Amino acid sequence: MAVPFFDVQYNLEPEVKDELLARWKQVLDHGYFVNGPEILELEQDLAQFLGVPHVVACSNGSDALVLALKAAGVKPGDEVIVPSFTFFASAGSVARLGATPIFADVHPATLLICPRSAASLVTERTKAVMPVHLYGRPVDVGVLKSTLKAAAGREITVVEDAAQAIGAVHADGPCGGLGLTAGFSCFPTKNLAAAGDAGFATSRDEKTAERMRRLRQHGGGRQYYHDEVGFNFRLSALQAAALIQHLPRLVEWNAARYTGAQHYAELFGGASLGDKLTAPEVIPGHVFHQYVIRTPRRDELMNHLRALDIGCAVYYPLPLHLQPCFQYLGGFAGQLPTAELAAKEVLALPIYPGVTAEQRQTVVAAIVDGLK
Ligand SMILES: Cc1ncc(COP(=O)(O)O)c(C=O)c1O
Repeated sequence: MAVPFFDVQYNLEPEVKDELLARWKQVLDHGYFVNGPEILELEQDLAQFLGVPHVVACSNGSDALVLALKAAGVKPGDEVIVPSFTFFASAGSVARLGATPIFADVHPATLLICPRSAASLVTERTKAVMPVHLYGRPVDVGVLKSTLKAAAGREITVVEDAAQAIGAVHADGPCGGLGLTAGFSCFPTKNLAAAGDAGFATSRDEKTAERMRRLRQHGGGRQYYHDEVGFNFRLSALQAAALIQHLPRLVEWNAARYTGAQHYAELFGGASLGDKLTAPEVIPGHVFHQYVIRTPRRDELMNHLRALDIGCAVYYPLPLHLQPCFQYLGGFAGQLPTAELAAKEVLALPIYPGVTAEQRQTVVAAIVDGLK
């Protein structure tokens, strides 16, 4: 049985498409494609859903991180500590502001930023740290903050990369409300998906959120008057309408991902693979944007699965400290061993809400066969 890695149609069932078309027709009728009433409606819906008071809708998750960093005061010459094992935009957003990403290693058990590694990188120029809730698993931001404070002798501002973590919750609160600011992505493969690029930034602090609102629109509160140089990071009203339409289904979709992860865990638990494979922990609050196993025989297994038409993917094959565009920072192989090993071993399996129990059984049976 073929198992697709992802199928965009899962959230576009016929009745959803009809609702979406009706909603898009409203936008076509009122004609406010930019800054239309859907933007505020979406921001209010998201604030309520997340339990974070201020939401600023914007063009995509990468731009949301730029807003979040700039509003947190990051400027040229500052250093921002970022895990090396993440999607490019976590560090790209820092570099886009003329600041320097400083790469920390990740923890082997979670693949999230390692507080001890981050603390070893603190300097006088450290302006912020960016925990990434990778694959939808919440970072323990409280521990990260206190470890950095002990190393720096001052508070280090936290800017969360919550691009993969909409709806994820830590015991200390929701992702997106654990730092000063955060950026989320609604790219079509994300847990909450637009029909194109979309994203949003969050903050618990009203003034900081107001600054993000201004920065989204060329740094001005009033048309043609500019307090600072900002960006054009506005969200299309058509995308906002799509997100308003999908949001009520997100709890159900996230629950389906979680149930899928529990089922995979059971199947792997019964498969006696020993140290040939490590399955991810299924912890409360995780939203399983990706379900990522580790195996030292990753490339061989990936080829085996693909030959059987079973979708799988590598997030991410090269840590950021080894990316060509960051060579000016002097990164070298062996510098961050846990991130480097993870890049060789990780493999994401189908976890989107449309995956059936039978398909998961097929995936695990194929893996057991491939690793025997
Ligand atoms: C961890 C992380 N950060 C940032 C982004 C950027 O989001 P976008 O693709 O919407 O710009 C993504 C998207 O894949 C991501 O996974």
